[in-house]
Amino acid sequence: MEAARKLGERLEAGDVLTLEGDLGSGKTTFTKGLGKGLGVKRTINSPTFTIVKEYMGRIPLFHMDAYRLEESEEDIGFDEYFHGDGATVVEWAQYIEEYLPEARLDITITYVNETVRSIELKPNVERFEKICEELFV
Ligand SMILES: Nc1ncnc2c1ncn2[C@@H]1O[C@H](COP(=O)(O)OP(=O)(O)OP(=O)(O)O)[C@@H](O)[C@H]1O
Ligand SMILES: [Mg+2]
Repeated sequence: MEAARKLGERLEAGDVLTLEGDLGSGKTTFTKGLGKGLGVKRTINSPTFTIVKEYMGRIPLFHMDAYRLEESEEDIGFDEYFHGDGATVVEWAQYIEEYLPEARLDITITYVNETVRSIELKPNVERFEKICEELFV
């Protein structure tokens, strides 16, 4: 998760990342890498039963898991996170699509084999286009 760590080093307040990928593809593992890059000391684990967890690093990291929101229209105050003082990473973002800001980095993780994952980055804003070019070309 070297790529995730490097990306974490570049994150700023107000950044929003989405993580798409099948069950067990590695979304939470990627988030752990982001945390490392952000200097988060606590162990990051799956937020499935809490929806949002906050970790303190160089800036706060909001780790969201929208999996349980599939059937609900609930707005849990997303904007407070997306436009807050930290960076937000969302697992299962497709379930809260209508609440997501347009300026974000969409990440798709695909299982290749037991030890390999492929990561596709889709920046929707210039800031992330630059970061992706600098980090991953
Ligand atoms: N890049 C990787 N290389 C090798 N193994 C990995 C990688 N990423 C994740 N794994 C392994 O895959 C398993 C599932 O990972 P993880 O919990 O991150 O998936 P997830 O996408 O968050 O799952 P869920 O959909 O349940 O939230 C873990 O056992 C983890 O160690
Ligand atoms: Mg997970």
